[in-house]
Amino acid sequence: MVRVNPGLEVGGHRSLATGARWSKFGLPPRRALTLLRELKGSLEAVGFHMHIGSQIMDVKPYDLALSIMARLLREERVPVIDIGGGLGVPYEGGRPFPLKEFSSIVCAFAESTGVILFLETGRFIVANAGYLLTRVNYVKEVDSTTWALVDAGMNDFLRVALYGAKHRIINLDERGRTRKYRVAGPVCETADEFGEHELPEVKEGDYLAILDVGAYGFSMASRYNLRPLPAVVGVINGQVRLLRRRETFKEAIFPP
Ligand SMILES: Cc1ncc(COP(=O)(O)O)c(C=O)c1O
Repeated sequence: MVRVNPGLEVGGHRSLATGARWSKFGLPPRRALTLLRELKGSLEAVGFHMHIGSQIMDVKPYDLALSIMARLLREERVPVIDIGGGLGVPYEGGRPFPLKEFSSIVCAFAESTGVILFLETGRFIVANAGYLLTRVNYVKEVDSTTWALVDAGMNDFLRVALYGAKHRIINLDERGRTRKYRVAGPVCETADEFGEHELPEVKEGDYLAILDVGAYGFSMASRYNLRPLPAVVGVINGQVRLLRRRETFKEAIFPP
């Protein structure tokens, strides 16, 4: 397939916009069309592809993307159209992605054009299936800030440092009145922080859970600061299974 860059500024953060003219992905529609025609001589060029961005919370951008695809189809009949992923997840709570509305415009497009339609929904399927459990190493108060310093860092979960993403956190050892904490990790970067959260009193040794880390979580983890990769535990039909054991320090130095 040939990737089309539709020139749409969508996605929650600049780094999540993959269909804007200034992004590195794909070619503008007319150039994509020319390329597909050239490829047809030597390759099986089955269709056009787009992935317009991530964390999209409404259907309007998909409507626009599909109308660009419909125009391309009128010029060049291809069997497959792939409109990528991007269906957003309400990390901070609030209105979910309007899936019914989305499915009705997508189905209408597939029916009216007769193409095979591919979707690449990544985050939407797995984001809320993951929790990052972390232990509080210590709590300190400096000026008017109360820090909860935890044993997970940006190397384990990068989205907050990378995109300024906001993930809800809960204290599993819930007790007492709530107050504001800035939750941060042990890595030697100021960006190694999980944001400010209103939490029931946090004490050294408490376990916190960072929510919705199933997508772009462990897959983005690294050994930065010589930190071994964490264990991954799955809950499958109510059974707890160790899917990946915690790395040893030696393995972090000489990865298996
Ligand atoms: C080509 C392509 N398709 C699908 C996805 C999945 O995006 P999301 O997780 O926002 O649905 C990505 C993510 O980068 C991508 O690059």
